[in-house]
Amino acid sequence: MTDTTQARLGKGLLSGYPIFYLQGAEESRMKELLAEQARSHYGNDQSLLLWSVSRGFYNQTGVITEPITDPVAALRHIADSPRKAFYLMQDLPALLADDPRLVRALRDLYQELAGRDTYLFLSYPELILPESLKKQIFLILLGIPTEAELIRHIGQIAEASAVAVQLNEEWRYQCAVAMKGMSLDEAGHLITRLIREGKTDLNTALPEILEEKSYALLKEGCLQYINKSVQLDQVGGLENLKEWVDSRRSLFTRQAFESGIPLPAGILFMGVSGCGKSMAAKVIAGAWNLPLVRLDMNLVLSGAYGAPEYAFDHALRVAEEIAPLVLWIDEMENSFGYDLHGGGGNNNIFASFLTWMQEKPPTVFVVATANRIEKLPAEVIRKGRFDQLFFLDLPTEDERKAILSIHIKAAGGALDKFNLNLLAAVTKNWSGAEIEQVVKAARIRAYQDKREFSDQDVVWNTARMVPLSRTMEEQIKQLRLWSVNRATPASKKAEV
Ligand SMILES: Nc1ncnc2c1ncn2[C@@H]1O[C@H](COP(=O)(O)OP(=O)(O)OP(=O)(O)O)[C@@H](O)[C@H]1O
Ligand SMILES: [Mg+2]
Repeated sequence: MTDTTQARLGKGLLSGYPIFYLQGAEESRMKELLAEQARSHYGNDQSLLLWSVSRGFYNQTGVITEPITDPVAALRHIADSPRKAFYLMQDLPALLADDPRLVRALRDLYQELAGRDTYLFLSYPELILPESLKKQIFLILLGIPTEAELIRHIGQIAEASAVAVQLNEEWRYQCAVAMKGMSLDEAGHLITRLIREGKTDLNTALPEILEEKSYALLKEGCLQYINKSVQLDQVGGLENLKEWVDSRRSLFTRQAFESGIPLPAGILFMGVSGCGKSMAAKVIAGAWNLPLVRLDMNLVLSGAYGAPEYAFDHALRVAEEIAPLVLWIDEMENSFGYDLHGGGGNNNIFASFLTWMQEKPPTVFVVATANRIEKLPAEVIRKGRFDQLFFLDLPTEDERKAILSIHIKAAGGALDKFNLNLLAAVTKNWSGAEIEQVVKAARIRAYQDKREFSDQDVVWNTARMVPLSRTMEEQIKQLRLWSVNRATPASKKAEV
């Protein structure tokens, strides 16, 4: 149980509330939390009683004590019983909407339990509370499991397995960190499977965990786990950016977190389309060995996950809880930018983002990208929010050679058969994405002609593609002008 869940429960008890609403889906965790709390409150192991509409009252070992399944009768039973206890009534909120008698019975019970040292807990995954009960009930949200809880739970499963000795403390810690964001049940099922499949080696286990977590995150709405990371050597050029990333490698490790060293809060990439902004987000996660989670602002704004303000706030909370991670907000100007008709459509979200950037836990590293920086409000760029603002321009000649080499190799070409000087010359003012595109097209052409793939195929294709820089010349010029004094070039040399 999270400290905050427990602390919140403590506050409710201290305030003398007799009825609580536990919102959350993890029933076994709730039971454990209440059992522990009941033990310390009453000093014995028998003071938590459970109730469900199918079984009536039963104790922690599952033995039915009173088969009263009618909810109103069950509430009367609690009122009439002299026993001091915690009662956990599961799913009762789902029955409230159709049954005004039940609402009345709860209001009565609120009066009757006052000062009797007996407490009623209603649990349900969603919040369903009639207006008439809101003032009487103390709300507790069951957060996602903490690292400590996950470690304990993983430990329990590991101990019960034949391979427990291999699953040492470091193993449990690493798995728990990777599992943050999952429920205890989800984590438990996953560990059980990994042990059964013999996938306990960390190199095999961690990718499996991250894959499973991506499904868990999907259920949370606007966050998406990106499992394609990019290594530094897959990036051509952008030396300043690479150095920045490389020199901060050791900051996002357990040792650094524990030492309390101040961590960078975030980075903003702006620049010409196709020059590697999105790729850079993946590079950071890859180089720092952190999970990359994309915050999908289109989903936030769509309303499909509740009011945009709520969906945004919720997504940030979840991101905080599963930290350490890289949180990626792509094409930021589209969601936070000024809208073209003058009104600030997403002002609230933008304001809460700025506040959050200053208060967020340091283990959430934010990577944001923007194509049209002039659309972003100036506050975003002000010092202190992002540690670094990088400008990604069209690649220089050397950079084009590096990019060409990377993509020719990736397409299975024999590098020594390619005249890189020639290819760099014919791709002048092309973006990295366009270079990748033209190499792929050349590879396809060679394949169709049943020839070995060569630089002539690339040249042939360059003549048939128009790079964006030709149609967007003016816009790129403006971007460069804007960036001169405001951003650091991601490349070492500026000349094209
Ligand atoms: N410097 C580079 N080295 C290697 N590949 C590159 C480079 N720049 C771009 N690419 C290739 O181009 C692809 C597209 O780049 P990316 O999506 O990162 O650009 P972007 O700046 O985000 O563009 P957009 O503004 O259109 O979103 C990358 O996935 C990568 O394969
Ligand atoms: Mg992009």
